[in-house]
This record gives sequence, structure tokens and C-alpha cells, in this order.
Amino acid sequence: MKIMEIEGNHELSGTIRISGAKNATVALIPAAILTDEEATICNVPEITDIDALCGILDELKVDVKRASESIIINPKNMQNIEIAEKYSKKLRASYYFMGALLGKYKKAIMYFPGGCSIGARPIDLHLKGFEALGATVTNEKNKYIVEAEELKGANIYLDIASVGATINIMLAAVKAKGVTIIDNAAKEPEIVNVATFLNNMGAKITGAGTSTIRIEGVEHLHKCFHEVIPDRIEAGTYIIIGALCGKNLKIDNIIPEHIDSLLSKLEEMGTDLQIGTDYVLISKANKYKSTNIKTLVYPGFPTDLQQPFTVLLTQCCGKSKVTETIWENRFMHISYLNSLGADITIKNQTATIMGPTKLTGTSVVATDLRAGAAMVAAGLVAEGTTTITNVEHILRGYEQIVEKLTSVGAKITIKEI
Ligand code: EPZ
Repeated sequence: MKIMEIEGNHELSGTIRISGAKNATVALIPAAILTDEEATICNVPEITDIDALCGILDELKVDVKRASESIIINPKNMQNIEIAEKYSKKLRASYYFMGALLGKYKKAIMYFPGGCSIGARPIDLHLKGFEALGATVTNEKNKYIVEAEELKGANIYLDIASVGATINIMLAAVKAKGVTIIDNAAKEPEIVNVATFLNNMGAKITGAGTSTIRIEGVEHLHKCFHEVIPDRIEAGTYIIIGALCGKNLKIDNIIPEHIDSLLSKLEEMGTDLQIGTDYVLISKANKYKSTNIKTLVYPGFPTDLQQPFTVLLTQCCGKSKVTETIWENRFMHISYLNSLGADITIKNQTATIMGPTKLTGTSVVATDLRAGAAMVAAGLVAEGTTTITNVEHILRGYEQIVEKLTSVGAKITIKEI
């Protein structure tokens, strides 16, 4: 088991370079099997979720070469075998193999995916989409068999603008006969990145990034080269950390428009922020105004930044509110923030934060990936030492977090115990 120790209350200065987006890469890797040729993806983050996907590729006999920040995937010799539960449960994004295998072989056999315990996380919309394309779905004890004689384009309306369902349906439809329209599609930048990748391979997808995506099926997808977009959630996490303890902290290699909702909140609160074309420069301000946020689908305030942002709200003057509308179980970080000295109460899906409160280091748990990021942010601003257990959650999504923070002056280590 790994634990993280943070000696807090140090000023952070220098530059943190943002890595490729986890939630784009975890879809790009399964998408790459749709070609029979080679796909090269660069700006791939070195995080354990990517290792888990490479484990699945290995099982499917896909040839994978990893070099620094890039991955070359060649599915020429791949076999469409069942993906065992021990692989699917390692991460949520294993479900993208359902759409990709269905799109390529018209058959996928795999188990219910894993991932952070932030809600029930059903996959009904993915399955309804596959069925609309002509597939039948059989589910026995967590195992899903999705197969079709033929996949035919269809009009699919998503009841919820789900990121996963939008991408999975794109993967299944890209080689289907005819035209598929996804209405009420999710608009997250990761979806645009995946559609661009598929188009680079010869797919015909338009409208990604809007709520209507049109996919005209093609027979063949060819070789391609693609770059992962910068991780907007990693960027947002470090920007929040900068607001807590930065002194001219530069968060570099970002696309500021992807985090507009965060940046405008920070400006409203009175942060010392400069926004460049591909960076943000941030310093801790003397005083922050309280504010309210409600998590929403893109371009609204991202649920994945809600937990780290709550830490910043503990340092604002007065009452702030956080309403979580996407995941029903994403307040597990709150009791740990309170044990550090925060004053937060939860009623239904809203947390009320009274601030500012002094935080003092203690032992806390990273209950999920972004709760872990919140614990890191809290540990950095707290007085004394904060010890975080279940650090494996954090390493699933933040590349070289210890190295990046150490390079700007943080006192942070990971120990194996
Ligand atoms: C993606 O999850 C991200 N994960 C999540 O990031 C992120 O929190 C989420 O999108 C929302 O932005 C990946 O990209 C791998 P959804 P996803 O389908 O696709 C409901 C992180 O920390 N729903 O958009 O699983 C669902 O329960 C992770 O990096 C259904 O009801 O999210 C939720 O309430 C955590 N039925 C809402 O829709 C379905 O079939 C949005 O989920 C699918 C979803």
C-alpha cells in the first residue's frame, strides 16, 4: 500500500506542465483497435489507468509499443476474446472496448466496468444505443454479450448527455451501414478529441462538440497519428492549488477555454490570475469572496473539479455552496476536510462551506481519484503534516504528481508501507 505525506504551508512557484487528458486517452486507446493498421497516439499520460488499458490490449493480442509520452497500437493480429472481469473492473473506461469491439467485430463480451465509487454509474444508455444500431445485449451475472448480425445507422436520443454513452455509440457506429445521429450528445472536449482521432483514421463524423453528432459509416479505417489534448481536470486541479498556495505559479500547456467555468469563478472570487494563450499564472490572494457552484455537463462547472474546488472554498470569507448534480456519491471528501479543520455540512446534494477555516494536517483517505486530489490540495495548504492513504486512486489520473509538485517547492513524498 502507498501513502502520501505532505508537509503543508509552503509557497509554490515555478511551472507545472500539464499532461495529456486521461479521459480522452482512455477512449482513444480502445478506439485505436478499429483500424487494422497502426495508430500512433502522442501526449499520452503515464498513469495507471493507461497501464490497465494496455493490459486489455495485451489480452486481445494487440501489439503495443510505448515510448515516452506516446503509444503505437497495431491490432493486425488481434483476437476478439472475452475481456475478463479482473481487467474490466480496473477502470470505468474499459467499457469503451464494448463499442470498439462491437464496431469492429459486431461482437463484444466483457464484464461490467470498474472505476471510482462516486455513484451507481449505470450503462443503460450505452446499451440502448448499441441496441438501436441493431445489436442484442445479453447480461448474465455482470457479464455482457453484445452482438449484431449487422450494425445499421440509427437516430439515437440520449436521455442524459452522457460522456461515456456518446463516445461508445460513436465507436460502435463508425463502421455501421448508413448514418447515425446522436441527439443530446455530450459536448466535452474529450469527445471532440476522440471524433478527431476517428476522422484522422478515415471516419466521417461531424458535429462533435455540439449536441448533435452525425456519423456516416465507413468500411475501412486506416493508419493515423494523433495528439491527446491537455488534461483540463489536471490543469484545473493545479490552478486551484495555485490559488491556495501559489506565488506566480504557471500552469502551462493548457487550453484555457476548456476550463472557462473554473476561471470565471476564480475571477469572481478575487484570485490573482493571468490567462495566457496556453497557460495560466496564479498567485494566492489575501482574501477570497465566497461563491456557489453547481456541477453541470460541459461547458458547465465540471464535477471532476468539484472536490478540489471545495478545498478552496474553505479559505473564502463567508458561506459558499456546492451542489453536485452529476454523481450521487461525490461528497466522500467532505468528512476528511472537516477532520482537517473545515466547517462543511451536507444536505441532500448540496454542501455548505463556512470559511475561512484554518486547516491542520492529519490522516485522511483518498476515497476516489478527485477526492484524492482534494486531499492533496488540502494537505498543501494545511499546517503540519497530512498523511493520505489509498494513494493508488490519485495515481490513476495524475501523472507524476509528486515530481510536478516537488519541482515547484512542495514537500510531498510517496512511501510504500
Ligand atoms: C465521464 O464518466 C468521466 N470518466 C468522469 O470522470 C466524469 O465525472 C463524467 O464523465 C462526467 O463528466 C471518463 O471519461 C472515463 P457520464 P462517464 O456517462 O462517462 C448517468 C474522473 O474523475 N448515466 O457522462 O461514466 C450517470 O450515472 C471521472 O476522471 C446513466 O444514467 O459519465 C451520471 O449521473 C469520474 N446511464 C451521468 O449520467 C448511462 O448509461 C453522467 O455520466 C450513462 C450515464
